Amino acid sequence: MTNSSSRPVDVVVMAAGKGTRMKSALPKVLHTLAGKPMVQHVIDTARNLNARRTIVITGHGAEQVEQALTSAQMQDQGLKFARQMPQLGTGHAVQQAVPLLADDGVVVILSGDVPLTRAETLQALLDVCAGQQLALLTIDFADPTGYGRIVRSLRGQVHAIVEHKDANEEQRAIREVYSGIMAVPARLLKPWLARLDNQNAQQEFYLTDVVKFAEAEGVPVVAYKIEDATQVAGVNSPAQLAELERAYQQRQAQALMAEGVRIIDPARFDVRGELTCAQDVQIDVNCIFQGRVQLGQGVKVGANCVIANCVIEAGAVIHPFTHIDGEKLGVTVGEGALIGPFARLRPGAQLGAEVHIGNFVEVKNSTMAKGAKANHLAYLGDATVGERVNYGAGSITANYDGANKHRTVIEADVHIGSNCVLVAPVTIGAGGTVGGGSTITKSTEPGALSVARGKQVSIANWARPQKKPKA
Ligand code: UD1
Ligand code: CA
Repeated sequence: MTNSSSRPVDVVVMAAGKGTRMKSALPKVLHTLAGKPMVQHVIDTARNLNARRTIVITGHGAEQVEQALTSAQMQDQGLKFARQMPQLGTGHAVQQAVPLLADDGVVVILSGDVPLTRAETLQALLDVCAGQQLALLTIDFADPTGYGRIVRSLRGQVHAIVEHKDANEEQRAIREVYSGIMAVPARLLKPWLARLDNQNAQQEFYLTDVVKFAEAEGVPVVAYKIEDATQVAGVNSPAQLAELERAYQQRQAQALMAEGVRIIDPARFDVRGELTCAQDVQIDVNCIFQGRVQLGQGVKVGANCVIANCVIEAGAVIHPFTHIDGEKLGVTVGEGALIGPFARLRPGAQLGAEVHIGNFVEVKNSTMAKGAKANHLAYLGDATVGERVNYGAGSITANYDGANKHRTVIEADVHIGSNCVLVAPVTIGAGGTVGGGSTITKSTEPGALSVARGKQVSIANWARPQKKPKA
């Protein structure tokens, strides 16, 4: 996004408040929305605005907040912190950022607990500010209780923000409120901040008092009013966080559906990361997508799947209750593969085209070539599985000797019977067969039948012991 005003944008994110109503040991702004701390949403919005610098004001839980945000984005050179101790109000919060604000910039002030503001909205606010005015983001609320009211002159000019606690009856009847978001040139803001006092009902330094100074100096104060309350909604309680979570998920579902994705019920759909879908993807209810997930053309995802960090290629079907987590290594599911129900794919599972993974099968750090199948109750860990291999029910790779992991190689066209243990490192030669119940500790030759179990003994006409008569 480009800035239509030529001035650089610096963002201040107020995040020093306590968040008492969350009733949590975790600082409020670190509570997650769509799997990401809410303050991180705000920082990401600032990045979409091409902010030169983003200054987060920390206070309660400062160390924890700073640490969480620093580890999350080592590469973000523009991210700075300023501490506010103690917390004496929103004006006092922004005062802490002053040493980090250059005079040539326009400052956009945001709150760490208002996560769903759109960058487009802030861009429009910047356009209204035009590098020289005080621009306020406002909204009409049916119930404005608790908010700062936008007081306008008869001619409609904004001339004050009056906090609810300081407002008289007439002012309390005003439904237009200040959202907590403003854009203001730094060179104007800095001297205004220096003049704030705390002579008000809450004995706080109100940022909103800058409106009075602007008016006194003849700097135009302009309100940019929006209708979408979600964009200015703050989080004070778990219930409000849950509400915004649903709003955010609805937004994502709507965007995907607009691209043609068939989401069976957008109210039961969650993306906690980034989901990209090709044409004709269908997603049943209660699925959760985390990290980066890519769904190819015509992919179908059944109900109740949790899918993270995974690429699923065209035509694959993920049946219900499948859990996929690629974590660092990723997972790929090849074209036309059939996975689940009740399958588990772990990091490094690389499944080729038309692979079948059935119920209660776990695959970790293994490649399976085209057409390989493991349909029931099996474990494949650190394995290389060739084309068309059939891996029997209940079979496992014993890949861990208690100290180190070892690989199992199963070459093309092998048939592994049921309930086998393949003790790695071991190679099953191409086209070979392993009899059911075998524990294989030595590599086998191509084409061989290998059986490694106690020989069956049958005793004819065996009489089972009888229960003794009671004495
Ligand atoms: C503020 C506005 C009010 C507006 C409302 C919108 C002021 C004086 N009032 O009210 O006009 O309608 O937001 O939600 O600005 N914070 C700090 N340090 C502090 C105090 C607050 O970092 O000393 C942070 C909070 O953590 C929060 C944000 O600033 O993220 C806003 O503070 P909050 O107390 O919620 O503002 P309100 O008093 O509700
Ligand atoms: Ca307050």
